[in-house]
Amino acid sequence: MIKTIEWKNNAIKIIDQTKLPLKLKYLYIKDLRTLWHAIRRMQIRGAPALGVAAALGVYLGIRDLRTKNFSDFCKELDSVTRYISTARPTARNLFWALERICSIAVTNRYKPIKTIKKLIFREAQKIIDEDKIVCRKIGVFGEKLIKNGSSILTICNTGALATVDYGTALGAIYRAKERGKKIKIYVCETRPLLQGSRLTAWELKKNGIDTILITDNMAATLMQEGKIDLVIAGADRIAANGDSANKIGTYNLAVLATYHKIPFYIAAPTSTFDFNLRSGRDIPIEQRNPKEVTHLFFKQSIAPAGTKVYNPAFDVTPHKLITAIITEKGIITPPYERNIRFRLRGKGL
Ligand code: MRU
Repeated sequence: MIKTIEWKNNAIKIIDQTKLPLKLKYLYIKDLRTLWHAIRRMQIRGAPALGVAAALGVYLGIRDLRTKNFSDFCKELDSVTRYISTARPTARNLFWALERICSIAVTNRYKPIKTIKKLIFREAQKIIDEDKIVCRKIGVFGEKLIKNGSSILTICNTGALATVDYGTALGAIYRAKERGKKIKIYVCETRPLLQGSRLTAWELKKNGIDTILITDNMAATLMQEGKIDLVIAGADRIAANGDSANKIGTYNLAVLATYHKIPFYIAAPTSTFDFNLRSGRDIPIEQRNPKEVTHLFFKQSIAPAGTKVYNPAFDVTPHKLITAIITEKGIITPPYERNIRFRLRGKGL
């Protein structure tokens, strides 16, 4: 598996995902501003990968601070984390990682600043190592839902490129392949930025998986023709009641799957859950540049000049349409509010 993000040569090394599938180009990010833009431009993307980028980004932002005083250090740390948190609003993992790194500083406040910096770096590395394990666990649970001979529909990119090196929804698919199951994956191209065709088709092909690319508006026909056995998608943020935000178009697939009586699964790590939000109505949805719709990757607009655009990057699938949520702690089925609390937070039924 490729490594999407790591710490190398004193910098954050990422695959520049805007260049795929034409070029496999690596970037070495050495300062906070460049990291912020890499996140905003989606050179690095996908909820778990954004968590790692945020954690390493904090280290980039504080490593050269000269202060030896904890309260000054804390002010700087706060401004670094606030800055990173403005890069993209929806993926819970980004905020989860920032909170985790900040709590390391607070817990170790009586230690020298030099030590706190080292501990922050160590925590970011821990997040990287954990992501690899968590994704493989999601793969193990998810694979159980995939029968030999299945045709699976997916959207966006939830694979190695969205995590450190394996994937969530695609992790289940990789695991099924490792277990010798014969599977076929239909990939929605995922307008407007084409993560499906540029990234998912690229990584699935690279891993020898039978992959068929479709445009997003073909999903209904495929289901009507009986070509889809199950749908698996990822998530950027899951509310306490199971409502799940993911790439725009995921909700369409859930509605279609329900109508056609096809199971619809969400795969995501615990770090994607936001227990502070009661329902999906509260999930912040990123609005992106209209040019992504009008220009796509062309220099000239493919719409008449001045056309108004609505470009939300994510939608929310109501929990009622989700057959099960696959996490590293097991498969969660309805009733979600109760079962999420029980499975992920260990709180009584
Ligand atoms: O805008 P993107 O490409 O960052 O959106 C990514 C997705 O919607 C993924 O499905 C989600 O982050 C889960 S990745 C394991």
